Amino acid sequence: MIKKELIKNYNLKIKELKKHNKLYYELSKPIITDSQYDFLKKEVLKLESNYKFLKNKYSPSETVGYKSSKSFDKFEHKVPMLSLSNAFYSDDLKNFEKKIYNYLNNKIKFEYSVEPKIDGISASLTYTNKKLKFGVSRGDGKIGEIITENLKTIKDIPIEIKKNDFPNEIEIRGEVFIKKKDFLKIQSNFANPRNAASGSLRQKDPNETKKIPLNFIAYTFGYVEDNSYKYQSEFLKKLKEWGFKVNKDNKILNNIDELINFHKHFESKRYDLDYDVDGLVYKVNDLSLQSRLGFTSNAPRWAIAHKFSADSADTKIINIEIQVGRTGALTPVAKVSPVNIGGVVVSNATLHNEDEINRKDIRIGDIVKIERAGDVIPHVIQVDKTKRDKNSKLFNFPKKCPSCGSRTTKEFNNATKKYDAVRRCTNDGFGCERISIEKLKHFISKEALNIDGLGKKVIEKFWDLNLIKKPQDIFNLNYDKIKSLEGWGETSVNNLKKSIENSKNTNLERLIFSLGIRHIGIENAKLISDNVKYLSTFIGLVKNKNFDKLLNIDGIGETQINSLRAYFSNQLNLKILSELNNKLKIRTIISYKNGILKNKTFMFTGKLDGISRAEAKSMIEKNSGTTLSNVSKNLNYLVIGDKPTKRKIDQAKILGIKIISQEELKKLLN
Ligand code: IVH
Repeated sequence: MIKKELIKNYNLKIKELKKHNKLYYELSKPIITDSQYDFLKKEVLKLESNYKFLKNKYSPSETVGYKSSKSFDKFEHKVPMLSLSNAFYSDDLKNFEKKIYNYLNNKIKFEYSVEPKIDGISASLTYTNKKLKFGVSRGDGKIGEIITENLKTIKDIPIEIKKNDFPNEIEIRGEVFIKKKDFLKIQSNFANPRNAASGSLRQKDPNETKKIPLNFIAYTFGYVEDNSYKYQSEFLKKLKEWGFKVNKDNKILNNIDELINFHKHFESKRYDLDYDVDGLVYKVNDLSLQSRLGFTSNAPRWAIAHKFSADSADTKIINIEIQVGRTGALTPVAKVSPVNIGGVVVSNATLHNEDEINRKDIRIGDIVKIERAGDVIPHVIQVDKTKRDKNSKLFNFPKKCPSCGSRTTKEFNNATKKYDAVRRCTNDGFGCERISIEKLKHFISKEALNIDGLGKKVIEKFWDLNLIKKPQDIFNLNYDKIKSLEGWGETSVNNLKKSIENSKNTNLERLIFSLGIRHIGIENAKLISDNVKYLSTFIGLVKNKNFDKLLNIDGIGETQINSLRAYFSNQLNLKILSELNNKLKIRTIISYKNGILKNKTFMFTGKLDGISRAEAKSMIEKNSGTTLSNVSKNLNYLVIGDKPTKRKIDQAKILGIKIISQEELKKLLN
């Protein structure tokens, strides 16, 4: 090949690589597989080694930020790395505090530890015998990747701690980030500093990580042997003494007014800081209160992130498309001219529902202001009506489902006495293509059956190829056919097989959640599963339409029961469940199996003193007991608080149920 052609060929490949880097790192929308990427990279490197004159500054051997081969060992976090709930307005903060008081059932005074929320990547460092043993990424919160060697290149991370009071085993967590001034030097490779830090941390070769100056700020612990710390602020002080960097702007504040004032002040100086912050984190400072408050399914009750105001930009609505979701909800989405908002290119914005379009009179062709805050989906906040074309027309929201053509309705909510803002397709489930596909995506999702080899894109593709139409089809796949598909090969098919096989070992809670029944989210699925314990019991209940039995469960009400009834009134759904029963191996998890309240049931009436129902319930469950919400012969103890319901006490007396005070419950709990 003549030199000119070689250069042309090389540059084309480099251009390709750059395109895929951008798709992966900046847009998080890769369009080729990892192996295709690696192949392309190898071709470039081969050309370079054969023809030395080709190599330029864009070569993958020169630039950092090229995709790693993603093959780090996995690590199960001893304590999950959860995320934080977000607050945007002062009402969100008031609500947060109110929930704390409600949970503790007491207006105890407490302080907040206030910490800048650095917009980086969280990492967890496990030290044993004062030496750094594992450095792990957050991953999905439960399982991360071991990136110890990469983390060791960060000078802020001590490899060994010489202090006497450093615990024998401790996991220290914090944020890895790149300073703004350092980011400027490598800007062309990454969309924003956060991406740069993430890309650098995931390099296969730690020498690559070293090329980008990363920093680490510590802010909390995961597992600690003999945890004796009383306050978050005390722990932060210890971190500093042990040689970790902590944020110099951390402080203690006493109430919501002080939080709001400080937020205002800090937001105005955020652009003067030498790192990116996207808000402040407020944590209940008292660690014993933190442990009483505990966690919801994905965030602590004792902390919240108060975000800074969102970034926004003006753009034009090119079209309005209607998406049909898993529960039949018709969601209008504005397709907009791509616009960069805070480092992310936005081309879709949700318009929420029909009422929102009508209220804001949003039309195709309008110039609108779009806001994007953190992980919240970009949305239209305002229409610039001065820029509206005089011929523009009102947007007509479809009255038929755009996917299956069925009638749509707005449900009447008996509690609020209002019609729902959301219009829904009336086809229940697998009769509507879009609903089916969304149900399948839900079925394989993390908190459901967690089949990571089957992504959303694959579900769409396999649907089109008639390979998967119902959840049970996943367990009867034609792997020979898949092997012959473009982009699939021996290895990827084997991986898929393996991840489907693994997913068969699951538990009832995940299975119930995976069915995607409206109003049965992960928390409710857990309540039901804890109550019925066995899949056979659940199926029996479904077959006999005996859902009222579940009304006994504290937390399950009419809405959930009606939804279950509607779902299983469709024979097809019952069939799906029994076919899944044949395929899956459901583990029975009986949590806290052998506690002192094993096989004992409790019910509360009246207000408890100094503790909320939710906390009392959680204490009973931690000791293997269960709580019920009705007096029945299944009940062992009725716990009486202040101003109890007389009817319940009378019923209990008739049935010979033990009636006990809060003090007596305390004694039972030791
Ligand atoms: S505490 C269970 N403290 O924010 C609470 N997080 O959405 C664990 N972050 O993944 C987090 N600064 O990456 C905590 N001072 C701080 C933080 C902080 C930044 C990040 C962290 C976490 C995310 C939570």
